Amino acid sequence: MAVSKDQVLTALAKVPSPNGVALPDARVLSDVVVSDGKVFFSLTVDAGAVKAWEPVRKAAEDAVRAISGVQSALVALTAERSGASGSRPQQAGQSAPRAAHPADKVQPGIPGVDAVIAVASGKGGVGKSTTAVNLALGLRDLGLKVGMLDADIYGPSLPKLLAIREKPQTIGGTRLKPIERYGLTVMSIGFLIDEETPMIWRGPMVMSAITQMLREVEWSKLDVMVVDMPPGTGDAQLTMAQQVPLKGAVIVSTPQDLALIDARRGVAMFKRVNVPVLGVVENMSYFLCPSCGTRSDIFGHGGAQKEAERLGVPFLGEVPLHMTIREKSDSGRPVVATEPDGPHARIYREIAAKVRDQIKGSAQVAPKIVIEA
Ligand SMILES: Nc1ncnc2c1ncn2[C@@H]1O[C@H](COP(=O)(O)OP(=O)(O)OP(=O)(O)O)[C@@H](O)[C@H]1O
Ligand SMILES: [Mg+2]
Repeated sequence: MAVSKDQVLTALAKVPSPNGVALPDARVLSDVVVSDGKVFFSLTVDAGAVKAWEPVRKAAEDAVRAISGVQSALVALTAERSGASGSRPQQAGQSAPRAAHPADKVQPGIPGVDAVIAVASGKGGVGKSTTAVNLALGLRDLGLKVGMLDADIYGPSLPKLLAIREKPQTIGGTRLKPIERYGLTVMSIGFLIDEETPMIWRGPMVMSAITQMLREVEWSKLDVMVVDMPPGTGDAQLTMAQQVPLKGAVIVSTPQDLALIDARRGVAMFKRVNVPVLGVVENMSYFLCPSCGTRSDIFGHGGAQKEAERLGVPFLGEVPLHMTIREKSDSGRPVVATEPDGPHARIYREIAAKVRDQIKGSAQVAPKIVIEA
């Protein structure tokens, strides 16, 4: 029988909050989302009381997991300063990233993971996820052990781009086992939620979900973790850039002026939080006619390279706009994995080699973390 919200609330009534009040009465509970045996909710508590609430969060998760029919439970602990209104995700251009909070902390690395790199873009739909997947596979082809984290909580793409339909298993009831595909170790919030489930996440809840995916997933030993970031350069993206212990960021842009303006914002965002920009990739750089092979520069090829030079960051390469890349990407058979000897795979591997050289040569940077208010 399907798990109901009432069953969850009944189970939570047995979980005391730090001051002894039962959880449903403690005025910290978000809406409880129950979907197909998977349960999600958040506890929003005062920033000063987070430590005292962490055992409660765990107890709540355990209580929900014990309900018969529950496959997985994700309880996020979110900190808010009292009186603050809930933060909302912002799209590029809506506001400039705000300054770091005085209570900044250094973000620890992820055990077993040597380097975490972000693939980001200011503008949506420029091919960031496609680039992230093929770059990860390119790094794999260079002999590295590679993982991928889908940090695009609002529109996770990795389940589709890697045709992953199975759900991650839990280890010991608390930690999640990532999914292995094409030699990559992968985690996405999309594995836990159905595609139809609306992603009505509040800003702080997103951050907790990311932290859980980083810290409560049994990542094996990895040379590189490639993080597919959500598009945009607003507060939510800035905080995420600080939440993840990044060694560097790759910015994806198409050659058009509008995309380049957003790419510039992306570069500025990472520089602001002391994350080195490993370089810029120009995606959909030129069009290669699949039938005659003729090349046309429909978006004004070369813009990203010029912009990279202007900004003083490396240029990593150009990827053509090609039907094969789109078809392979959208059917979950990424081109580097399924046409490893083709021209596109070669381009991605060249980009991967540049990224590898960059991360080998740069010191680990521990970015500051902003406590979401
Ligand atoms: N080089 C390319 N050639 C052809 N199609 C491409 C290329 N790169 C990406 N695409 C296609 O463009 C679409 C958008 O790509 P993708 O989902 O990777 O973008 P995104 O920047 O991650 O988008 P979002 O901002 O929604 O996360 C997809 O259909 C993808 O297959
Ligand atoms: Mg994407």
